[in-house]
Amino acid sequence: MRMAQASRAAGISLAGLTKSYDGTVVIPELSAEMAGGEFTVILGPSGCGKSTLLNMIAGLEPVSGGTIRFGEREVQDLEPKHRGCAMVFQNYALYPHMSVFRNIAYSLKVAGLSEVEQSERVGRVAKMLGLTDLLDRKPSQLSGGQRQRVAIGRAIVREPSVLLFDEPLSNLDAQLRHDMRIELAELHRRIGATTVFVTHDQVEAMTLADRILVLNKGRIEQFDTPREIYHRPASEFVARFIGAPPMNILSVTGNGTGLRVPDGPLLVPSSRRGDFRLGIRPEDVTLGARLPDGIPVTLVHREDLGSHNVVTVRLDGGAELRVTLPFGSDLDESRHLFIVLPRHRLHLFEPGSGRAIRNAFEDIGARKEEHV
Ligand SMILES: Nc1ncnc2c1ncn2[C@@H]1O[C@H](COP(=O)(O)OP(=O)(O)OP(=O)(O)O)[C@@H](O)[C@H]1O
Ligand SMILES: [Mg+2]
Repeated sequence: MRMAQASRAAGISLAGLTKSYDGTVVIPELSAEMAGGEFTVILGPSGCGKSTLLNMIAGLEPVSGGTIRFGEREVQDLEPKHRGCAMVFQNYALYPHMSVFRNIAYSLKVAGLSEVEQSERVGRVAKMLGLTDLLDRKPSQLSGGQRQRVAIGRAIVREPSVLLFDEPLSNLDAQLRHDMRIELAELHRRIGATTVFVTHDQVEAMTLADRILVLNKGRIEQFDTPREIYHRPASEFVARFIGAPPMNILSVTGNGTGLRVPDGPLLVPSSRRGDFRLGIRPEDVTLGARLPDGIPVTLVHREDLGSHNVVTVRLDGGAELRVTLPFGSDLDESRHLFIVLPRHRLHLFEPGSGRAIRNAFEDIGARKEEHV
């Protein structure tokens, strides 16, 4: 059976999907739509259900309820091999006794393609992945990155319309991860398969995804573009999960005129009353010695990371904030230091649910920030 061509990649539709193991609920109920050809990254902490969700899409794990569609086709009751998808795992188990060529060609052979067709297809995939000169080698004669490329070749050789990855880069060193990330983005542009990629690495998520699905305890916290996820996190969970160093989050109380930390200074004017969580990213804080309207702080710690500095400062009352400063910014540490928190860069969250309160500072005339 010929697989659907990549140019007509099917979208994925998950509707009311649930999953429990022996009464333990892992996915309470999840619905999401991924467009044909879209690159979705599922991001979340260990144990949140990323692999479970991917395995249900692949057909390696039965669903407890709900439907999975590839295009118009309902696939949740189909065998993996009848779904038209392929998966790459973290532990890319290659057949050790087979050559690279045979490893990649294996599924084509099983599908009954002729030797000529196998050679033609494997040749094309090998060229795409830079494996042409390695086709006669055994897996043991390859580097980690080359093995991972063979695993990817094995997945894409059948031209699946849906391509699934479960942490495929986790076993590689930092440089190789970076190189493979660029290769994967390039590969996706060329083959256009609808791709779902699981990771807990936020850099992979930010750089590869058309949209990131942030998963927390089997629930979707937010499913949006990397830019929206970064600049307009829907919850404190998302805000903390993306960004390094992570967003500063302070417990604050509103008295009707402003928000302040307990026993600390006024941080921002606001007519709100009650307890909130106030967030600001380290790069959005202004820090300096000559900020007349600034909030006084003391310097706690300074880390020089070469390209930038991460400075920890303390407010009256004890709360601490991290601030990133670009390389070369001169900070006169002998002077009294101040911070300014630009209103249009602040995030406000409900203390209980953690949900973001949108446009929280509009009532005091803050310019509405549009991230385009
Ligand atoms: N076969 C199983 N039986 C019972 N519980 C399971 C089974 N497989 C997974 N789980 C549980 O389901 C939850 C989600 O697991 P899953 O493997 O999907 O997490 P994950 O997000 O992929 O985590 P990681 O980042 O560590 O790979 C975990 O609490 C796990 O213990
Ligand atoms: Mg997993």
